[in-house]
Amino acid sequence: MKKIIIIDGGPRKNFNTASMLQKFAEGARAVSNQVELKTVRLYDLYYKGCMSCMACKIKGKAANVCKFKDALTPVLEEIADADGLVLGSPIYFGDVTGQMRTFMERLAFPWLSYNDYSLTAPKRMPVVLIETMNGLPERNNSQGYGSMEPCIAIALGKPEHVVAYNTYQVKNYDRYELASFSEEAKRHYRDEHWEQDLQKAYDAGRRMAESLLQN
Ligand SMILES: Cc1cc2nc3c(=O)[nH]c(=O)nc-3n(C[C@H](O)[C@H](O)[C@H](O)COP(=O)(O)O)c2cc1C
Repeated sequence: MKKIIIIDGGPRKNFNTASMLQKFAEGARAVSNQVELKTVRLYDLYYKGCMSCMACKIKGKAANVCKFKDALTPVLEEIADADGLVLGSPIYFGDVTGQMRTFMERLAFPWLSYNDYSLTAPKRMPVVLIETMNGLPERNNSQGYGSMEPCIAIALGKPEHVVAYNTYQVKNYDRYELASFSEEAKRHYRDEHWEQDLQKAYDAGRRMAESLLQN
């Protein structure tokens, strides 16, 4: 049995990011029932970012999984033992959500050696990074996973990206003060792209599951 952990870093249970992650899971599930999928919603958990406790760097007891105990601990331990990892986040002010960033601090700081600046995860594994945003492919402010991405690439493996642009931020644009968006233009873009975006997430799920079963 292979295990993929899906980390949902968005607050909304049934909106864009969650839908992309659900499609990823569907794609992986369609390949084989030998692939176990677990989705963790970060907004359901109460946890902190790296506490700088340095427990992961104590001489003779250095660890590449965070030692600080809170609701994130079992998630980090499960990732250490998983076969694939998917991170999904909406873009907020150009970055992934604070919740996702906080999670990634706890994930990656124990990988980092201050002896030689190497980055070593407990296990290498395929990674998919999913982003959803208002911006367009040709005009957006997304830094994506930012400075965490090179850490992930070195420690786990080069990630694959799946991005949904110009998403619907609300279901009904008439109800809110959102005058800088034309709902008509949004709808037009969505009609042309959203199903394809979901399909890209589904295909990424298939690819990850297939690659895990080959190895
Ligand atoms: C607090 C906040 C900040 C946002 N900042 C950006 C941004 O900087 N760039 C952008 O393209 N979209 C931005 N958006 C739009 C969301 O990224 C976009 O609607 C996303 O698809 C929402 O994901 P969700 O439907 O899963 O919640 C922002 C939305 C919120 C609520």
